[in-house]
Amino acid sequence: MDGNLQLKGAEVPFYLPDGDECDVFAAAYANGLPLLLKGPTGCGKTRFVAHMAAQLGRPLYTVACHDDLAAADLIGRYLLKGGETVWVDGPLTRAVREGAICYLDEVVEARKDVTVVLHPLTDDRRILPVDRTGEELEAAPGFMLVASYNPGYQNILKTLKPSTRQRFLSIEFDFPSPERETEIVATESRLDPERTARLVRLAGKLRALKGQDLEEGVSTRLLVYCATLIRQGMPVERAILAAMIEPLTDDEDVKRGLLDLVTAVFG
Ligand SMILES: Nc1ncnc2c1ncn2[C@@H]1O[C@H](COP(=O)(O)OP(=O)(O)OP(=O)(O)O)[C@@H](O)[C@H]1O
Ligand SMILES: [Mg+2]
Repeated sequence: MDGNLQLKGAEVPFYLPDGDECDVFAAAYANGLPLLLKGPTGCGKTRFVAHMAAQLGRPLYTVACHDDLAAADLIGRYLLKGGETVWVDGPLTRAVREGAICYLDEVVEARKDVTVVLHPLTDDRRILPVDRTGEELEAAPGFMLVASYNPGYQNILKTLKPSTRQRFLSIEFDFPSPERETEIVATESRLDPERTARLVRLAGKLRALKGQDLEEGVSTRLLVYCATLIRQGMPVERAILAAMIEPLTDDEDVKRGLLDLVTAVFG
């Protein structure tokens, strides 16, 4: 779990939109509606939320969900401090009190007791019962719940229950078009657009193998890593192996196949 606070007036992180997702986010925010972002790893979901939070001038609390995350990790707990027990708000409670944006990353990983906590917050009641302190908090204006998950690799048992997912507006994310991805990767890595465009072309070919040899296509994140290594002087083939091949597979045959694609694109 990590709470990360985006201060008012802080610089707005770079985000290149794909369509009208910024408008949908802003409309959800304005109406106090929760939002679910679906999409593959490394396609820009977290960056989008950071960008929108800064744009809207709201603090942002991010929680990476995992199967050990308990409701108390979100809500808070009594802690011993200098011989006294004091109540310490968790990130969700803080966001509810302050009217901040709370971002639950990989929400399907969360345990059932966590999703249950979200229910009264994500319908028109907008309340958070804090059983341990006996409080029932009404979400402050500006509070917004955003969650994300990757529908691709989650197993059947780990999909969201309809009663949970039907509480959220949803936006689907995918990898950007080649033109957009070239702009994103060039901006992030400061590699020149020509060499960046070649990497993006390679990524397109690698993504076409998803489902056959590869579980997931190469992410925009890995492309940024690769371009960054090249800009700093690493030979192209070495950077591609480290950033675009090895992270995708452990299978030697598949690796060889991927390297053939590299040769096809880079000659
Ligand atoms: N539209 C975009 N605008 C700007 N940067 C982007 C965009 N899409 C992807 N990126 C770049 O890709 C990187 C990875 O994106 P991000 O961390 O937001 O992915 P994610 O969808 O949250 O992945 P995960 O599901 O693994 O958490 C960002 O750090 C950023 O460099
Ligand atoms: Mg993320």
